[in-house]
Amino acid sequence: MQLGLSVDDVLSTTRAVRKRMDFDRPIEPQVIKDCLELALQAPSGSNSQGWQWIVVTDPDKRMALADLYRQAWAIYVDLPFAIGNIYDGDDPEVKASYDRSASSAQYLADNMEKAPAMLIPVMPGRTPENPDWATASATVGSIVQASWSFMLAARERGLGTSWTTLHTMFEEQAAEILDIPHEEMIQIALIPIAYTKGTDFKKGNRNPLADSLHWDGWGGSAPN
Ligand SMILES: Cc1cc2nc3c(=O)[nH]c(=O)nc-3n(C[C@H](O)[C@H](O)[C@H](O)COP(=O)(O)O)c2cc1C
Repeated sequence: MQLGLSVDDVLSTTRAVRKRMDFDRPIEPQVIKDCLELALQAPSGSNSQGWQWIVVTDPDKRMALADLYRQAWAIYVDLPFAIGNIYDGDDPEVKASYDRSASSAQYLADNMEKAPAMLIPVMPGRTPENPDWATASATVGSIVQASWSFMLAARERGLGTSWTTLHTMFEEQAAEILDIPHEEMIQIALIPIAYTKGTDFKKGNRNPLADSLHWDGWGGSAPN
């Protein structure tokens, strides 16, 4: 079933869903496949389509991945750029928003294995021939759009997702759990998937566009 949201609604309300995941509602494999079919319409460098998609529903594997994630979370949570520490401004509303996100992220760490499915987008590229300049722009850049398309398509179908990357601190161990050929394949993210409790989501907390917009060069302002 689709929610019938407008494109703009999907783009502005696809949140990192953590506390509102419905762990008890199973996900039909076909819905995940439908979202991935749409994801395949995303661009990739030279239309190379090197992307590989690992969907994990096996409870033991979900638990093993969640345990790795928790180990990484325990390291991350004290770092200065962790979501609970990064805001150093004095706007109480913004601070409260970061605090809510930190609490939500802690909840995900505590409960990740309960998500009925996880998606790990994987990209070939850990090779000596792949120059450094291409790793971020071409390798990662050839799978992120498709992965985000998956998350948008999931939102339209009542599913919540969250982009997470912390498990890559222990990427080799995750590769072992899932038999991924680690010497070549780069894990881009670990995306827990669950139906959401309710389907109404709001716009997120974002800085004004003017803070990041440059027009005709670094120092240029946009026309009014
Ligand atoms: C590169 C990247 C890495 C992220 N890693 C994690 C993560 O490991 N754990 C987590 O809970 N959220 C993670 N997030 C989600 C962000 O915290 C989230 O997108 C951000 O707080 C905005 O949330 P919102 O869209 O719901 O407003 C990550 C997002 C990105 C883009």
